Amino acid sequence: MPNIAVVGAQWGDEGKGKVVDLLSSHFSVVARFQGGPNAGHTVIFGDQKFALHHVPSGVFRAGTRIVVGNGTVIDLEQLLAELETLRQANIELGGRFFISDRAHVILPLWKGLDKLRETTADATSKIGTTLRGIGPTYEAKAARWGVRMGDLAELEHLEDRVRRIIEGPAGDRLRDAGIDPGQPAAVAREAHELWKQVAATVTDTATLLNDWIDEGHGVLFEGAQGTLLDVDHGSYPFVTSSNTLTGALCAGLGVAPTRLTGTVGVFKAYGTRVGSGPMPTELDDGPEGNGQKLRDRGHEFGTTTGRPRRCGWFDGVAARYATRINRFDGACVMLLDVLDAFDEIDVCVGYRLDGEELKTFPASIAACERIEPIYETLPGWKSDTTAIRRWDRLPAEAVRYVERLGEIAGTEITMVGVGPDREQSIVKPGSWLSRTLDL
Ligand code: GDP
Ligand code: IMO
Ligand code: MG
Repeated sequence: MPNIAVVGAQWGDEGKGKVVDLLSSHFSVVARFQGGPNAGHTVIFGDQKFALHHVPSGVFRAGTRIVVGNGTVIDLEQLLAELETLRQANIELGGRFFISDRAHVILPLWKGLDKLRETTADATSKIGTTLRGIGPTYEAKAARWGVRMGDLAELEHLEDRVRRIIEGPAGDRLRDAGIDPGQPAAVAREAHELWKQVAATVTDTATLLNDWIDEGHGVLFEGAQGTLLDVDHGSYPFVTSSNTLTGALCAGLGVAPTRLTGTVGVFKAYGTRVGSGPMPTELDDGPEGNGQKLRDRGHEFGTTTGRPRRCGWFDGVAARYATRINRFDGACVMLLDVLDAFDEIDVCVGYRLDGEELKTFPASIAACERIEPIYETLPGWKSDTTAIRRWDRLPAEAVRYVERLGEIAGTEITMVGVGPDREQSIVKPGSWLSRTLDL
């Protein structure tokens, strides 16, 4: 069975949840390898709509095994609330849901530090995080004073670890700001009580996954965030605190690179970003402009925070960069229907910086801020695509548009999305995904 990764190719919210939900019926296992409740993955089928933060988007397929890997960071309260929502929707998870004993725990103090930093940062250094404690938890992991899921089992050991954190520099930062970091015994007990509710699912998921792959089961790896938010390869420092690109799945799950059959990159048909940082193709053209039109038509408000997303045209330079470092075998172009109402659509095919043309996404934020996008204009199709279910029924201009995106990005377009529902997806016949999964 193939093992396939689904990875965000822009600044997150590309529609990964929808793609994973759709493809998951072809896999025995769906596994998340990084990120935490900063992710908001929307899955819609029939009259049901779910926003998932921790739980992988393959959860709606009865019997599919679900893994939250060691590379993720977990807010237990958030996770339990999500599991309760699923239970109320009669989604049975018994015996098929597994959390890594090595995943790091988002303690209340990590959320406090995230908020403190964001509220005290000046306008130029505010990252615009989701305030979910993601950064401080990954910092604690790298600093080697973090708490892992497996540490929650023994209260005495846990209290000792929590005490070192609270009495150490992290606690000092909160105390200096007049914020109580909590009492070690109480913080440890609270985490231990929450852990009891998921204790039966906490296990060595790397061993499980490798055993399953050896037995011939296929795994779908679900990325969170997007390539331009990767802590190494993204628009640093305006990034998340984990590696988001395909390669991260190896460390984030304990699965070797040779196990991977291929990678699907998920793009939006245009560009969005939430939070601060450079976005060369952002359209800041007022309430009647194309930026607002994209936001309105795409309902571009954050799944996790509700913030309005910044909108702009498709950035072909960033897309090509994402394709190269992830080595996409095929790409999905989601939310194509959002462009149904445009006469003409611009696509960024190059960057000009200080009079010279750049070939790739620059490392320097200062350079990013000075980029002038070079646009190519393509004709729109001015017709409703939302009821189309076959590739050969798509308007010729829509096919030309997505094929041009593929050419610019350097990958084959293998699927498009024409609406938020699971059914509103069209796999291109004969393309990589169609051949690999026999779709
Ligand atoms: P993710 O974080 O990558 O899973 O994406 P989000 O769920 O945060 O944001 C994608 C949004 O677009 C959600 O509201 C989806 O329901 C919606 N969506 C996904 N695919 C399509 C599509 O093809 N067309 C439209 N109109 N909406 C889509
Ligand atoms: P999904 O998986 C879009 C952004 C935040 C902020 C930066 C750092 O739904 O695509 P963090 O809380 O991670 O420290 O915030 O990253 N961000 C996302 N943007 N989609 C996401 O996830 C995101 N997760 C984080 O807005 O700019
Ligand atoms: Mg999202």
